[in-house]
Amino acid sequence: MLKVRYLGHACFTASEGTHTVIIDPFLTGNPRAPVAADQIQVDAVLVTHGHGDHLGDAVPIAKRCGAVIVAPYELATYCEKQGAQVYAMHIGGAHTFPWGWVKLTDARHGSAVMEEPPVYTGNPCGFVLRMGGKTVYHAGDTGLFGDMALVGKQGIDCALLPIGDNYTMGIDDAVEAVKLVQPELVVPMHYGTMELIATDVRLFEDKVLSETNATCKTLKPGEELEL
Ligand code: NI
Ligand code: MN
Repeated sequence: MLKVRYLGHACFTASEGTHTVIIDPFLTGNPRAPVAADQIQVDAVLVTHGHGDHLGDAVPIAKRCGAVIVAPYELATYCEKQGAQVYAMHIGGAHTFPWGWVKLTDARHGSAVMEEPPVYTGNPCGFVLRMGGKTVYHAGDTGLFGDMALVGKQGIDCALLPIGDNYTMGIDDAVEAVKLVQPELVVPMHYGTMELIATDVRLFEDKVLSETNATCKTLKPGEELEL
């Protein structure tokens, strides 16, 4: 059993009842965040890339909870310099933690912390998370790429895919991603947070239903589903 809760934008928590991890904790400054960062209690913080709407509150949450930040090496190093406990990985690599198994996947995007001057934080990633007997793919921010089919070969119960366009896949490419990954269930993310990535989530739901074998479940910020 795995409970997956959507906290808006690209942020989710996953919990098997004993442990909880959070992915891309952009809560402070997110108008759709259902909870404040200081309410989060987790064992680990997974971060796909350095952009503010993903790194978000990762460092303060990790410090307060004594949680480890799991991120690509360059981004992990940045977080370590901010005083967080980190576990650095990179694309293609997997590791078993006390709470689950994580593998970093490719993601077609950028990665930098936009300070002055910007700190480049290597390649962005996606995560395959195996926890509570279930496998979740969080694609991160990415465009469509054919090797998503290889991610799918690992047997994905639930895919969390960006659909907001402009910075990531839009609806049509995200539907193609569903065809490549072939998850049981797909949950759209990275849309509607701001006008630039506003989209018609109903259209995505309809296309997933008519063009793929997956079930689409749209979660409102704060809602959760059980795998
Ligand atoms: Ni980004
Ligand atoms: Mn983003």
